[in-house]
Amino acid sequence: MCGIIAAATDRSVGKLLIKGLFKMEYRGYDSAGIAMHSENNVVHLRTLGKVKNLEEKMIADKPKGKVGIAHTRWATHGEPSEINAHPHQSNDRVFIVHNGIIENYLSLKEELTDEGYAFNSKTDSELIAHLLDNFLKAEDSLLSAMQKLKNKLDGAYAVAALDQREPESFVVARNRSPLVIGLGKKENFAASDPLALGNLTSKFLILEDGDVAKISPDLVEIYDAKDKLANREKLTIDINAEASSKGNFKHYMEKEIYEQPQAVLNTLDGRIGGEDVLENIFGEGSSEMFAKVKRIQIIACGTSLHAGRVAANWFSAISGLPTQLDYASEYRYKNPYVDQDTLLVTISQSGETADTLAALRYADDKGYLASLSICNVPTSSLARESDFLLLTNAGPEIGVASTKAFTTQLTALMLLTLSLAKAAGKNPLLRARMINALRLLPEKISEALKLKNDIMDFAPEIANKDNALFLGRGIFYPIAKEGALKLKEISYIHAEAYPAGELKHGPLALIDQEMPVVAIAPEYELAEKLVSNLEEVKARGGALYVFGNAKEKLDLSTGRYISMPECDFLLTPILYSIPLQILSYEVALLRGTDIDQPRNLAKSVTVE
Ligand code: G6P
Repeated sequence: MCGIIAAATDRSVGKLLIKGLFKMEYRGYDSAGIAMHSENNVVHLRTLGKVKNLEEKMIADKPKGKVGIAHTRWATHGEPSEINAHPHQSNDRVFIVHNGIIENYLSLKEELTDEGYAFNSKTDSELIAHLLDNFLKAEDSLLSAMQKLKNKLDGAYAVAALDQREPESFVVARNRSPLVIGLGKKENFAASDPLALGNLTSKFLILEDGDVAKISPDLVEIYDAKDKLANREKLTIDINAEASSKGNFKHYMEKEIYEQPQAVLNTLDGRIGGEDVLENIFGEGSSEMFAKVKRIQIIACGTSLHAGRVAANWFSAISGLPTQLDYASEYRYKNPYVDQDTLLVTISQSGETADTLAALRYADDKGYLASLSICNVPTSSLARESDFLLLTNAGPEIGVASTKAFTTQLTALMLLTLSLAKAAGKNPLLRARMINALRLLPEKISEALKLKNDIMDFAPEIANKDNALFLGRGIFYPIAKEGALKLKEISYIHAEAYPAGELKHGPLALIDQEMPVVAIAPEYELAEKLVSNLEEVKARGGALYVFGNAKEKLDLSTGRYISMPECDFLLTPILYSIPLQILSYEVALLRGTDIDQPRNLAKSVTVE
């Protein structure tokens, strides 16, 4: 999964493409490259490592061009190296960048080898360049070669290509990988994410699967899956430059942590009124559909699935609905049994996670009542393909480790819980209580953010350890899981989460002075039990870090107690996520890791 960008303009294109790549580094950052039509040839530059290295090479080489394609990579086939970096080329004529995976690449590679093509890289992408070159022996344009190509490829792809003999334009194709066209004045663009084009245009066309388009400075011609000329919906997306910059923060992740009060406010904006949730906030007809729901199936990956795990508790407690949860990558392979009147809920920040999308598409004819998505990106495939949608409106999240996307997903899932309860006429008093608590939530989050100094105080004690354990019970277990995930993602400390009651069934063997134990322990029905679990840790010399609001109940002679602001019990999972995010961030800062772009990861995983 990678980021691609292409532009046809009558000004110098190099800087513009590099700027776009910087904005898409969240999609991958192990190598980068660019190809541009120059006087009589195509300039082709590739570098190992981040986009910065490519930028330096561009500054040194000063290549010129007005039409070009560029790529930032997250390796799937073939290790990160200059040779495996995109663009790939064939016969110095065709140059391509690709995001996705070509599933039938081995058989296509064999065919092309028989035709005399030699492969330089270990990627599945290089064959796209050779295939296009091969088609161009009979076809009279790159556009028709691309139309032929699409019938050959199985898998997911967003491709942009240059033909050295057509210096005024580039051609793109899309199937199951995101690709948008940006419309400018006497210049047009394409990219994996509108964010990459934010400083260039606010007018976008969203391509559909099977589309091929030829793009020059004056013209955008789109052909659909059947090669018929097609019109695509024009969208205006104003990408606020500030929203996608770091501002005065050291990292995007830090900025995004501190943006959470506003982000949650944005999720709530226009969705609650008086003492209840408003009607049809998930789309026309959603309230009517909710009245028929008997069960929920949640599908998501990573942090988004943790949000789903919390929501499963809410659905049961407030809406009276049972919930089944699955990792999107597992769901399709278990022959899911679909009960009548089950609502399918997918949760995804990006809306482009390949596993989640594949699960949604797989579920399409399985007899669900409807599909509903909680998503942060309005133009994403998930947002467009679900029957009902609630946008989290968190603004762009760029740090790879998810923070504001998570708390806004939780907020949106509480709105879903309340909408389901309302449609079934359940729990009006509890609903009113939750609406009031939601109104207070941004303020509570601001208070929790003030714990930064307390957390910085003990972060060094965790930063010099190799392992950590996170404990929580009930509705806090998913928060413990999210805390552990955050720590391992950005500090590379091995961290695991357990429901505290499970400690004695195995993990207790790991406890010694080298094992920090982070516990989420607000006052609630299981609190006493949790205290006994923590005593078990203390008795074995484990270092305890407890986040709670009832210090007096815990005789903590060793370890730390972090007193949390009070808030409605059912919303505490959202509030307690905040200090755990700060803890991971501060620990990672001390360990000097690459916080926004941790090793081996990418934000938007568009391969299965
Ligand atoms: C990647 C990211 C995670 C994210 C997961 C699901 O693994 O690194 O932070 O939780 O994808 O992403 P989604 O966009 O579907 O929420």
